[in-house]
Amino acid sequence: MGELRGATDIGAYLISTRSSDEYRAMFALSDADLRGRVLDCPGGGASFTAAARAHGTAAFAADPAYATPPPELVARLDAELACGSAWATANAERYVWRFHGDPAGHARLRADSAATFARDLLGSPGRYVAAALPHLPFRDGAFDLVLSSHLLFTYADRLDAASHVAALRELARVGAEVRVYPLVDQAGRTLPQLLDHVLAGLDAAGVRARVDDVPYEFQRGARSMLRLRSASSRPADTPPARVCGPRAPDPGRREWPA
Ligand SMILES: C[S@@+](CC[C@H](N)C(=O)[O-])C[C@H]1O[C@@H](n2cnc3c(N)ncnc32)[C@H](O)[C@@H]1O
Repeated sequence: MGELRGATDIGAYLISTRSSDEYRAMFALSDADLRGRVLDCPGGGASFTAAARAHGTAAFAADPAYATPPPELVARLDAELACGSAWATANAERYVWRFHGDPAGHARLRADSAATFARDLLGSPGRYVAAALPHLPFRDGAFDLVLSSHLLFTYADRLDAASHVAALRELARVGAEVRVYPLVDQAGRTLPQLLDHVLAGLDAAGVRARVDDVPYEFQRGARSMLRLRSASSRPADTPPARVCGPRAPDPGRREWPA
């Protein structure tokens, strides 16, 4: 655990297992936000999709990790949990513990979430799609809402600005609305240059973007999300397109929320 203290990089992409409550808080989600089709990308080992399904949301998750056979992926989760917990414990001063209580509470929440994810993955593997940004196997506008947590910005050490713009354009292609959190890197550093570059790239591509506050802070200072709406978004009351099937005609645009 000692070598993680003060580190700025957790190593390979961690398959983390955030809970649905963490998703609700970090993306400022309301019940109304979850009425349509929702994609979690990257889904990792998060229990958001399982929990949203239990409440009737047509939720899917996409992640390259889902190319791993489900029993094998589930077997990896203990090691991923241990790595995430060791990092949070060794670097506890970098976090705000209001939500989780303390490192032990954090470890319990993430372990419960991993168990929920594992049950759902093994029982309903069709909800978990093996795919990697910037190329998702979904039709334009297939989802009403796309959530993207702890890949973009988080791994700015290995994903350059062009990769961020390409990934965000792809998320905006498949979703009427996209929410991305956090906007800091693994070490909690703000990324003003990257954010400026991303906003300019999205603007040039016709994707409307803005930064909103959220009622959640775990990494110190990570209190905002990026929200995107593509120019071709369809209205909320249109039947959602099938994820991989023919797309419904686009009858118009919904206004970007004020
Ligand atoms: C830190 S986890 C976040 C998982 C989940 N969103 C959460 O917050 O618990 C990062 C995830 O990004 C996935 N990932 C890595 N490269 C990716 C790519 N090109 N496209 C989509 N997901 C990717 C990894 O497999 C890993 O599951």
